[in-house]
Amino acid sequence: MQLKKLRKLLNELTVTEKVGQLIQLSGEFFESSNDIVVGPEQKLGISPKIVNLSGSVLNVAGAKKTREIQDRYMAKSKHHIPLLFMADIIYGYKTIYPIPLGLGATWNTKLIRDAYKNTASEAKASGVQVAFAPMVDLVRDPRWGRVLESTGEDPYLNSQFSSSMVEGLQNGLNEGHGMASCIKHFAAYGAAESGKEYNTTDMSEYRLRNQYLPSYKAAVDSGVKMVMTSFNSLNGVPATANEWLMKKVLREEWGFEGVLISDYAAVSELVAHGIAEDNRMATQQALKATVDIDMKSPCYVNELEPLLENGSISEEKVNEAVWRVLKLKNDLGLFEDPYRGASEQAERHELVSQKRRELARKVADRAMVLLKNQNNILPLNKNQKIALIGPYADSQELIGLWTVHGNTKDVISISQAFREHATKQNLRIAEGTNILENKEILNNTGISSDEQKSFVLTHEEEFKKNQEAIEAAKDADVVMVLGEHTLESGEAGSKTNLTLPDNQLKLLEKIRSLNKKIVLVVISGRPLVLSNIEPQVDAIIQAWFPGTEGGHAVADVIFGEFNPSGRLSMSFPYLVGQLPIYYNHFSTGRSPETSKHSTRYTAKYIDTPVKPLYPFGFGLSYHHAIYSNLRLNKKTMNKEDNIKVSVDIQNDSEVAGEETVQLYIRDVVGSIVRPVKELKSFKKVALPANSTITVSFEVTNDMLKFYGRDLNYESEPGNFEIFGEYKIVCVNE
Ligand code: BGC
Repeated sequence: MQLKKLRKLLNELTVTEKVGQLIQLSGEFFESSNDIVVGPEQKLGISPKIVNLSGSVLNVAGAKKTREIQDRYMAKSKHHIPLLFMADIIYGYKTIYPIPLGLGATWNTKLIRDAYKNTASEAKASGVQVAFAPMVDLVRDPRWGRVLESTGEDPYLNSQFSSSMVEGLQNGLNEGHGMASCIKHFAAYGAAESGKEYNTTDMSEYRLRNQYLPSYKAAVDSGVKMVMTSFNSLNGVPATANEWLMKKVLREEWGFEGVLISDYAAVSELVAHGIAEDNRMATQQALKATVDIDMKSPCYVNELEPLLENGSISEEKVNEAVWRVLKLKNDLGLFEDPYRGASEQAERHELVSQKRRELARKVADRAMVLLKNQNNILPLNKNQKIALIGPYADSQELIGLWTVHGNTKDVISISQAFREHATKQNLRIAEGTNILENKEILNNTGISSDEQKSFVLTHEEEFKKNQEAIEAAKDADVVMVLGEHTLESGEAGSKTNLTLPDNQLKLLEKIRSLNKKIVLVVISGRPLVLSNIEPQVDAIIQAWFPGTEGGHAVADVIFGEFNPSGRLSMSFPYLVGQLPIYYNHFSTGRSPETSKHSTRYTAKYIDTPVKPLYPFGFGLSYHHAIYSNLRLNKKTMNKEDNIKVSVDIQNDSEVAGEETVQLYIRDVVGSIVRPVKELKSFKKVALPANSTITVSFEVTNDMLKFYGRDLNYESEPGNFEIFGEYKIVCVNE
């Protein structure tokens, strides 16, 4: 529709109709074909009439369903404004990829762009028009369950992924393809204090701008259509009412013109935060902060009109918000085709097709991170006797918590994939125990005591399962597939104990006492604390929740069909007490590595290493790479020119592989304290067997820029160290 016509449409709307465009309800409001659906309305305190006017709906998917709802809605819509379908499609719609922490470990932004492009095609066939993805919160504290949704701890790497995911989802949007992307959660939700869900964030603007905001900005620069506010308060003001953040930074500085939506009920939660007296005041604050859509709260729907009537807000502000919503609907072509191509026929062709599975497997292969491989025990030989042991051996629960629309029935389990490789005589499979038996945790995950019964084994059952595993392990090498339960991570999955569940640790001990070689595969939504079990096993593969093709990916790595190339995008702590832990921390006055003070008086712990068990950027492969000869083409540069850094990489093994070459820089002296090192670039390169290659980077002035003492974004003259395996000093004049 032409913008002139759209403007005319806006002017024709009554105030109530305008308010309708600014609220988002969830599926249960629309699912009945009756006019009056009493339950949900009563709960939220809204009238059924407004349901017919509400502008968008949350988490309804499926071609048949979305078309029916759209038809009913349009039939009642005087102005024929289509309903907008938004959903949580975080790392796949029906074909599920590894959790984003696994996607981060691929360091392959091109591949991930493709994965999100595929996701958009699938979801579009089912009538979803906006994805609440990507989640681009920078994370440093794995106590927080939502680290699962992020690509990790680094501002640069996260920004690269943020752009590629947005570009993937929105690919071809103007031509009717893809879907709109809504990044979340703006801002700094990943820094919630003590890793506790929904908690406060309080940090300097220096840190915020240099480390936490870049991934959101990258998405805005890539043309993202929507932004979602976060639940946390930021420096005293809840994000959803934070005018500085939303108006000044997001809209004015970054030029974001799209739709800003609150997180679920976050507008009404301004009252609980204690910055609004009641829903009316909360509504006023959120609208002032330019929040356009109120997701699932009774605020905008009930309070906007009275606020307009008493003159506390102007109709102009409401019009601006409605305009942005209408504009998005128009950009998506909904006025021409309110279903946006959704059809059951398209679904048959699109959903979990062979092509999509192949891509999911390719991604999952590359998300696997080999953390230990003592004496090159891996890859295993298909002809050796193998016992596959653990509660995840036979399980299809490999897609993790944030997969509202995914189906575990589509998942290739690890046992199924092993059967494709190993012969029946050589393979024994035993669960050994359940995933989780801790009643306290189960109670807090919100599942009923009846459901819990299926989780918790009696002593006899546990003993029997343990015995089966011991039997299976007796004359075989062992692959143990252990991990945390799906319910232990994701939203509201904050935890303080990050080791494997007790019952699984006991099983591991029993198998260990048989003196067997053990390969451990870890299924988890976060970096777990593995320091206690690392010495007990010969190899460790971090497999995350690997998605629909997860079983294949684990088997591909174990049997050497794929040479692992994943590198961690989030540090694995040694102990929970180290948290938050991340590689790019600020320099202190007493680094344990360089301080002249005696061993006691340095920045460290006296009972635990200061370093993580596995750092950011770490991961092993089956080939053997030796980095040498890091060199610069010159030692000084000015703002206009670059320095070329090169490094030689030798593969002295018979196995071809892929290397992730990472360039780190340290700004030695700044106007403000700088991080000890920062990732500035990386390249994924093929490394043929028995060969040496040279990889080069250009160090540019842009890489040296940061928000300094006066919060201006610029580089400062001085010395810089460049890191590969070595340090080299260069000077920016
Ligand atoms: C989450 C969001 C999500 C929304 C809608 C909230 O609880 O924080 O990430 O998009 O629910 O499901």
